[in-house]
Amino acid sequence: MATHDTKTRSRNRKAGIAPPRPAVPISYQPGFGNHFVSEAVPGALPVGRNSPQRPPLGLYAEQISGTSFTTARAENRRTWTYRIQPSVVHRPYARIDNGLIRSAPFNEIDATPTQLRWSPFPVPRKPTDFVDGIITLGGNGDAATQTGMAIHVYAANASMHERCFYNADGEMLIVPQQGRARFVTELGIIEAAAGEIVIIPRGLRFRVELPDGPSRGYICENYGAMLRLPELGPLGANGLANARDFLAPVAAYEDTSGRWSLLAKFQGNLWAAEMDHSPLNVVAWHGNFAPYKYDLARFNAMGSVSFDHPDPSIFSVLTAPSDLPGTANIDFVIFPPRWLVGEDTFRPPWYHRNVMTEFMGLLHGAYDAKAEGFLPGGASLHNCMTAHGPDAETWERASEAQLKPHKIENTMAFMFESRFALRLTRYAVESSELQHDYFEGWQGLDKHFKGG
Ligand SMILES: [Fe+2]
Repeated sequence: MATHDTKTRSRNRKAGIAPPRPAVPISYQPGFGNHFVSEAVPGALPVGRNSPQRPPLGLYAEQISGTSFTTARAENRRTWTYRIQPSVVHRPYARIDNGLIRSAPFNEIDATPTQLRWSPFPVPRKPTDFVDGIITLGGNGDAATQTGMAIHVYAANASMHERCFYNADGEMLIVPQQGRARFVTELGIIEAAAGEIVIIPRGLRFRVELPDGPSRGYICENYGAMLRLPELGPLGANGLANARDFLAPVAAYEDTSGRWSLLAKFQGNLWAAEMDHSPLNVVAWHGNFAPYKYDLARFNAMGSVSFDHPDPSIFSVLTAPSDLPGTANIDFVIFPPRWLVGEDTFRPPWYHRNVMTEFMGLLHGAYDAKAEGFLPGGASLHNCMTAHGPDAETWERASEAQLKPHKIENTMAFMFESRFALRLTRYAVESSELQHDYFEGWQGLDKHFKGG
């Protein structure tokens, strides 16, 4: 007979409401790429070796290698897990529908040099969880050869139940824009709200609960080498995103039975395997291959204190290298609240053409190069060598502005920047969110030439 609790759970599940969690705050371990150590049950972690003949508490030892065995020590990432059953205990994989997820190579339509902008993507009404709510806008490179990236948005209203996901094609940088998202992973729980980012390493199993119901955000899927902190060069030892502000989870496990689906994104397609327990069954772990989050409000923004303003690379939070030194496969750049004090300076972003491709999103507030049309939850794309810059209204205002110290406040925009041009999906160019009048914002930039 169903108890009140099981009836409530069943009702909540149908409504997509996340199951309650203990009222204790979620704990984290600080540091970027640290060699973390965590155990959910005291004594679960072997001491002094990784793979003892009989690990403590009857657990199985399993290593997850995020880089090749022979990657240089400074960049080598791996984690040892001590789990109730090894990850291999599942039924064979079978193909499932890809929904609106697409992968490189992107060849549905011709790549376009046109400046493009999208209105916010709506949250669906029918029950939709995080994986079902992913819509791919475009990408570049090749998932099979681990170069390039894809850009997705997600719009969901339901938690994942007895369903976990991993992405063998890439690391996922997730940027929530609306509603909290709770990532219940093999290595513990990370919760993020708008203004925070979450990075899930390639291959790590997780599911997403939505404590607030409707949730929306952006995803950068990195097919290439892992994201890392940018070098600081002449800035010195501190500044931008500081390593101590990155947070990894502590061990938490599920010891369940039931019918679970393990979803995999593999070589561009979705697959599912049935299993009879939760794959999130790690009781203890140690290593430096782990998910993490970062609060963008912690970013220590740098800028000019004389004239001009630096290239936007000064706002890089994370970067993923390509095989061309100094040229990123992906830069994740933010435009946070900051003071503008430049003398005799056109203070908004300058007019620009760039070999790197610039995809932008807005979390809240207004972006200082656009007077209107670029909305929170929306996006813009300025592809390789495509001209862009402030609209006519912004140019007018900035050219006449009194150059007192001015603080840009209550805003957070970001950019996924890539060395490769972005090739869009058919959905992205045919969606009703595409603003066909985007070009008009620049048409009022009249001639003011007084020479000749
Ligand atoms: Fe630009």
